[in-house]
Amino acid sequence: MKSTQNNNERAIFATKFGAIATTVGSAVGLGNIWRFPYEAGIHGGGAFMICYLAFVFLIGIPVLCSEFIMGRGTRSNIFGAYRKLRPDHNWHLAGYIGILASILILSFYSVVAGWTIEYCLSSLFGQLKFSNTEIGHGQFIELTTGWRPVIWTVIFLACNFFILIGGVTKGIERASNILMPLLFLLLIAFCINSFTLPGFKEGVKFLFHPDFSKITPSVLLGALGQAFFSLSLGLGCMMTYASYFNNDNRLGKTAVTTAVLDSLVAILAGIIIFPAVFSFGLSPEAGPTLVFEVLPYIFSKLPGGAIWSTLFFLLLFLASLTSTVSMSEISITYFCEEKRWSRKKSTVVSSLIGLAGGLICALSFGPLSDFTIFGMTFFSLFDYLSSNICLPVGGMICSIFTGWFIDRKFVKTQMTDNGKYRFPMLRPLVFCLRWVCPTAIFLIFLNSIGII
Ligand code: PFF
Repeated sequence: MKSTQNNNERAIFATKFGAIATTVGSAVGLGNIWRFPYEAGIHGGGAFMICYLAFVFLIGIPVLCSEFIMGRGTRSNIFGAYRKLRPDHNWHLAGYIGILASILILSFYSVVAGWTIEYCLSSLFGQLKFSNTEIGHGQFIELTTGWRPVIWTVIFLACNFFILIGGVTKGIERASNILMPLLFLLLIAFCINSFTLPGFKEGVKFLFHPDFSKITPSVLLGALGQAFFSLSLGLGCMMTYASYFNNDNRLGKTAVTTAVLDSLVAILAGIIIFPAVFSFGLSPEAGPTLVFEVLPYIFSKLPGGAIWSTLFFLLLFLASLTSTVSMSEISITYFCEEKRWSRKKSTVVSSLIGLAGGLICALSFGPLSDFTIFGMTFFSLFDYLSSNICLPVGGMICSIFTGWFIDRKFVKTQMTDNGKYRFPMLRPLVFCLRWVCPTAIFLIFLNSIGII
């Protein structure tokens, strides 16, 4: 797949399919397969699921549209987009929230991505055990404590660096086009396998049967954070990607397609994990280690378990790469376009910052495990601050800005591709951006700090 350059040297995705595949490539990753099941597990299953889906559709899609409008309409990074649309104000400072969030996320995300490399290679070389009942937690501890995660984190970040140094679209676009459908097929196959597990009914009930009494402020905040995290929203990532869209990309359709596919992958992951959790007598509340502890049990029941496991963790590793590449773009385009650094220098500096954060988070599972702030290790703190605070705040600012401060004609031009397509949802979209999204996010914040 080729990419083209426009006159101010910004790359443009060559095809609509490439643009959607890359956007979905950013959205689909560890957030769906690792983070969604563990968040759902600790927040009561069905209660979390219903809040999460409501937020994806009521808040996620409108905010995704607003990032697309700003990104493609200005062909700029998050700072440039705010500045071009409102040169006389300080809205562009919201870009710093985006950069902070992207660094925090890259830091803990690369540790988990490092685990996927460890699990992939251990399955390949026959070290991952699939046959005794002690495999779950014990095996996870064996593979991921001490200095080992540090090494895998560094290796993962090195892979990320080499992809980034190669340019924007080439590698990422090509890889996403092939990998995402493959990962999807594999998930469907595992899902079908779930039907055969004795805990299938219980697992599905846990995930889909909401107990409304379990909807607490922390469930609401967790589901909101998960919706933003999973859609790569609120930090300018989708804005940056939209700046590479061509002028004939129906933004509304791209937003809905991305949200639907992304949620589908999360639901598939849930259908794979929870039946296994109940079949093997595990606890859904294991937290960040849940998926890594449960998956070996699932593979142990499949013929050729080691092969499935190797393939699955390989694809998960590659899906993580398409996500980390997209989050790294935020700081790289900032340095390139705001500081006028070369792409190479910008990539090196961004990667070094990511490496520092990654090391701190990796050590949270070893030498720094006793070091906690507000009861959280660096790993959990970085996750909490970015997903539950920075992303919703960034999304709230973006939605207020697009709803109230951008000319309605500009919004219409973007959503209709300059009048080429009809977009009957313009009024509801603007209504959501003006009222629904900011109010909902604000109320959830007040609620979570105990004010309402
Ligand atoms: N959406 C990605 C996932 O679900 O794994 C994570 C992510 C990517 C968050 C890019 C933020 C971002 F900018």
